[in-house]
Parts: sequence; C-alpha cells; structure tokens
Amino acid sequence: MAAGGFGRYTNAVRKGSYRWLRVAGAALLLLSSLPIEVRALSTAQQVLAQIRHSTPNLERGAEVFTGCAACHGSDGGGTRDGLVPRLAGQHASVLQKQLVDYRYDRRWDPRMQAVVDQHSLSPEAIADVTAYISQLDRDVGIGTGDGSLLQRGAAAYLRSCRACHGRAAQGDAARAMPRLAGQHYEYLRRQIYDAVDGRRPNFPPSHIRLLARLDRDDIAGLADYLSRLGGSPEASAPQALKTTQEP
Ligand code: HEC
Ligand code: HEC
Repeated sequence: MAAGGFGRYTNAVRKGSYRWLRVAGAALLLLSSLPIEVRALSTAQQVLAQIRHSTPNLERGAEVFTGCAACHGSDGGGTRDGLVPRLAGQHASVLQKQLVDYRYDRRWDPRMQAVVDQHSLSPEAIADVTAYISQLDRDVGIGTGDGSLLQRGAAAYLRSCRACHGRAAQGDAARAMPRLAGQHYEYLRRQIYDAVDGRRPNFPPSHIRLLARLDRDDIAGLADYLSRLGGSPEASAPQALKTTQEP
C-alpha cells in the first residue's frame, strides 16, 4: 500500500475521531435498548470473529480434545447410534459456529452447553480444538440406515440439498457449510426433525421450511444416503450407492 494513501487514511480518522466517538456513543445507546437476543447475537458474532482471528495451535488443540473424546471418542467418530455426532473431518468454521451457538443459546443441548460455558473454553481454545478436529481421519465407523430408501434419499439430496452442501455433501469451509457426508444416520435424522420442530434455533427459517416439506421416507432416505457418502469431493454419488449395495 502507498505510504501516502495510508497517511491520508489515518489523518481522516484523526480528524473524524470526535465524530466517531459520537457515533459509537449512539450505537451503545441503541445497543442497550435492543432486546437481549439481539445483543447476545452481536456478542456471539464478536466471539466468532475472535476465534477466526486466532492462529490455531494443533498441540494445544489435541490437549483440549481429550475432554471432548470422553463423549465423541478419541477418533472423533461419535457413536453409531447417533446419540453423539461424528466430528472428525468437519470443517473448523462449521464446528466453531456450532460451539458459539451452543454458548449463546442458539442451539440447545445441556451437555454441550456445559462444555462451552464461558469459563471452560476460551476463544483460543475453540480455535485450537476445532483446527485439531478438522484434520482428524474421516475414516471412522458410521451408523447407517437399512438401505431400503437410498434411491429416494439420493434423488431428494440432488434435488434440494446439493446446491448448498455440495455434490458429495462435502460442505464448504469458506461458507461454514456443514459436511453431511459420513455423519451417523440417526444423528442426521434427529437434527432434521429437531430443526423442523423448532429445536435448532440456529437454523435459518428458509432451511426449516425446506426440511418441513420432506416426508418421513424422504428423511430416512436422505439420512441413510448421506451416512454412506465418503465425503471427499472426488467421491461421486453413484459410486457411494454402489458400495452400499454390496453385502
Ligand atoms: C458429555 C458429553 C460431551 C462432551 C464432553 C462433548 N460433547 Fe460435543 N456433543 C455431545 C452431544 C450429545 C452432542 C449432540 C447434541 C445435539 O444433538 O445437539 C454434541 C454435539 C457437538 C457438536 C455439534 C456437531 C454437529 O455437527 O452438529 C460439536 C461441534 C461438538 N459437540 C463439539 C465438541 C467439542 C469441541 C468438545 C470438547 C471441547 C465436545 N463436543 C465435548 C456430547 C459431548
Ligand atoms: C440454502 C443453502 C442450504 C440448502 C439448500 C440446504 N442446506 Fe442444510 N444447512 C445449510 C447451512 C448454512 C447449515 C448450517 C446451519 C447452522 O448454522 O447450524 C445447514 C445445516 C444442515 C444440517 C445440520 C448439520 C449438523 O451437523 O448440525 C443438516 C442435517 C442439513 N443442513 C440437511 C440438509 C438437507 C437434508 C437439505 C436438503 C433437503 C439441506 N440441508 C439443504 C445450508 C443449506
């Protein structure tokens, strides 16, 4: 950047600083008159920004993860019955948003809300542990459905979900779009029902409406189909279907 350009910028800031103070004061006033949820949201966004600016340390992340492994397993694979989700290989940006959502009451689960309580997990620790988890081996044991609704699930996925979650349900780190490939069947099903029933307040309303249009078989088929996807961008849906048809 040209030095002159920067000088001009700082000068403008200095000259305008009085005005900035007034603007900041007005913003504070406005903030204090906002409902509590809106303020919590802005704090949540600040914490998320703090996490994203922190340079992750994988060694420290591994230490923090020992506390998570008690439930999520030392490989981050969760449990096949879907009571505990698989975390291994999920994008750090997605994990971070979920953790902040639990902390700020935008996602509900008493165990996770206790884990991310302000005093137990700093923004730096969240940056470290999510970086660690995102590079864990994705090859973990996954609970699947009975295979009877796979074609239906595949069709529904390609029709309604692929545009955002990706061709192979690999998600997108830059957009904090969750990887759904290789998540436990029962967990996926439960999240979809929870979202439709209003138990996942962090879901955008348009997403809830989309899921609400699915019927029982669509949901079972989708969850089964997704649980069997390898999740790498190279893996194609037909291949995943082929492997699932083997005994
Ligand atoms: C006491 C058990 C327990 C511990 C300890 C625990 N978790 Fe969890 N975690 C769960 C359960 C159960 C869920 C599913 C909750 C739900 O359905 O919303 C979950 C969900 C999550 C999710 C949401 C995943 C998704 O894709 O929706 C993330 C992220 C997560 N945990 C990260 C962590 C991290 C990081 C730690 C350690 C710092 C940790 N958990 C420690 C039990 C635990
Ligand atoms: C417009 C983009 C978009 C479309 C289309 C979309 N999703 Fe999502 N989905 C998202 C985003 C963004 C999130 C993360 C929400 C959050 O912050 O918790 C998400 C989260 C999810 C989750 C929770 C994942 C987890 O680990 O907690 C599931 C399950 C899911 N979507 C399933 C589906 C299914 C099934 C479809 C198709 C019927 C679909 N989505 C279509 C954007 C989309």
